[in-house]
Amino acid sequence: MRLHEKIVLVTSSIKLPCCALLLGLACLAPTPAHALFGNKNKAAEQAGALLFRDKDCAHCHGEAGEGTKKGPSLVDLRKKKEWTPEKITGQIMNGGKKMPPFSDALTDPEIAQLVAYLRAKHRPTAPPRSQTPPAR
Ligand code: HEC
Repeated sequence: MRLHEKIVLVTSSIKLPCCALLLGLACLAPTPAHALFGNKNKAAEQAGALLFRDKDCAHCHGEAGEGTKKGPSLVDLRKKKEWTPEKITGQIMNGGKKMPPFSDALTDPEIAQLVAYLRAKHRPTAPPRSQTPPAR
């Protein structure tokens, strides 16, 4: 066996276990499921914030849902036990006494995003209109 062949043999036998070790470490790296789901929720909440701003909700409920003369505050909605996600979905779809129904104006996923936004622990704030294209 020539010298450089020996070197190749030695280096490759070192490299292999190293790779295995690195791979193992990568797999062990902590990526808890809730962190992944958390990100998904964050995206829905952010999308909901844009919809809230662009689909007229803010017109009656205020830019940050703080309420206006036309609609009640939605700030404490998540603390109110009676406002389950199903009930919020129903309110958005069917409207209320003075709130118009949105079942025609919004898709089911959009309504789900609005519910995610309204129920978010830390509601994201939508950037000013001028900086982002309106939500579809
Ligand atoms: C024309 C004004 C108006 C618009 C636009 C409007 N709302 Fe409302 N909303 C109201 C009023 C008034 C109420 C309370 C009485 C009722 O049901 O009519 C209400 C109630 C609600 C409630 C129940 C909260 C409670 O304590 O009663 C939710 C949730 C809600 N609106 C979400 C939304 C969302 C999300 C949008 C946008 C898709 C929206 N609203 C658009 C006027 C409006």
